[in-house]
Amino acid sequence: RVRVRELLASGTSVVGQKAVVKGWLRTARAASKGALLFLVVDDGSCSGTVQVVVSKGAPGFDAAASCGGVGASVSVLGTVVASKGKGQDVEIKADEVEVLGCVYEPDGTVGASTYPLAKKAHSLEFLRSIAHLRPRTKMHSAAMRVRHAMAFATHKFFNDRGFLYIHTPIVTGADCEGAGEQFAVSTLLPDAGGEEGNGHAAAAGGGPPMTPAGAVDYSKDFFARRTCLTVSGQLNVETHACSLGDVYTFGPTFRAENSHTSRHLAEFWMIEPEVAFADLKDDMDLAEDYLKYLVAYALGHCQGDLEFFETCPGGEPGLRERLKNVLQNDFVRMTYTELVDLVRKDAKEGKVEFSVIPEWGDDLGSEHERYVAEKVYNAPCIVTDYPKDIKAFYMKLNPDGKTVAAMDILVPKIGEIIGGSQREEDLGKLTKRAKEMNLPEDSISWYLDLRRYGTIQHAGFGLGFERLVMFATGIENIRDVIPFPRYPGHASF
Ligand code: 4AD
Ligand code: MG
Repeated sequence: RVRVRELLASGTSVVGQKAVVKGWLRTARAASKGALLFLVVDDGSCSGTVQVVVSKGAPGFDAAASCGGVGASVSVLGTVVASKGKGQDVEIKADEVEVLGCVYEPDGTVGASTYPLAKKAHSLEFLRSIAHLRPRTKMHSAAMRVRHAMAFATHKFFNDRGFLYIHTPIVTGADCEGAGEQFAVSTLLPDAGGEEGNGHAAAAGGGPPMTPAGAVDYSKDFFARRTCLTVSGQLNVETHACSLGDVYTFGPTFRAENSHTSRHLAEFWMIEPEVAFADLKDDMDLAEDYLKYLVAYALGHCQGDLEFFETCPGGEPGLRERLKNVLQNDFVRMTYTELVDLVRKDAKEGKVEFSVIPEWGDDLGSEHERYVAEKVYNAPCIVTDYPKDIKAFYMKLNPDGKTVAAMDILVPKIGEIIGGSQREEDLGKLTKRAKEMNLPEDSISWYLDLRRYGTIQHAGFGLGFERLVMFATGIENIRDVIPFPRYPGHASF
């Protein structure tokens, strides 16, 4: 069996050779008064397809002519021939066709009139409602190939630099970001009233067991404590950075943000490197190198798919040009204070209108982030030194006592794609900060130990993987760059 990707890449050099192609029909059309059948086969290996010409009389001709057409699965054995058609060097002249799976109507007869993808153009919203068939679309399959390439390039980048891939846990008792956006995991042991380990809601009375003092009683919980799905692997991966040196984690993370935006998911993947003996400058340099590496990798390895994203309906015509520009320039670097000043000045001068004009100390809205990255610079911007009160407890306090050594990378159209910082390595300062932010010391004593026993300067960041795929493909909604998007009201299978 040859993949369509290899066949198209070989072009006319394989004319005359026998080939077996397996895949799904995009179209099936009779020609020459029924003497020929043209099948267009897609096997998902690339954004291209291969045309198969079947002559009446070839074994399987009748079966292929009556398999329902679009969506049916076939296996074709034939000879590669030069194609007279436009846009393709080669096609396959079939010796025989085997229909592997027909397409059926609800009444069991063969036909594609109710096949959800029978019509050509579909809204992305409709495609999300058929997540099990969405992989059959060109758009989704191209997005998944780029997604794969970005994951592979991530491992290659870090491996080549000597980083170790550390698997951090999904279930945890820690709240890294302290934003109160965690999904609780609560599982009663079967003998505690839950039905075969069902959640607390299955306990008698419908709610979790309570102590006489009115708190949730975790004594019968599987983990004997409150646990949640992780919002970030950072705190865990820091333990290994403070021993193994350069490490990273890459896994799913979960946030119960009730955000109905095109850039938030409840379940998303994050890459989090953590570097021993590094400061914020090292962190920014690593992040810039890594993003540029990913962009170069996409340009070098995903050409067909990027071309598809430039020409497909709703695509971004200048996609590859935009990506090349990312490689050619240094990222803009500015402080939070400079950014707020710029945004306020431009709003005052009437250059831009915002729904909210930020004061120093406010969290930036995506309208401000995007204005600066998109309209002012049209390039990735690294923003540093945020007010401590809008950032997490673990960030290193700057000498001014008001800001922390944090950095966010903002990119056009998306806004924040990376968030990172130098970590507070001073035990006293970190303990004080945790107290100020009402973090129970016993819940992070293990984390404080890293500062108690041979503390070191270290820094890291988190790249939102789906936002990266949006950046690399120009796809505008984060729900379209992950196989099964989770967002409010959506988590069926
Ligand atoms: O800025 P965040 O919250 O940083 C952290 O979690 C740190 N612990 C990372 C670290 O220093 N190791 O998240 C990092 C990135 C964001 O910049 C964004 O790209 C992405 O994760 N992100 C989301 N992506 C999709 N949906 C959401 N709800 C996201 N929340 C954050
Ligand atoms: Mg952030």
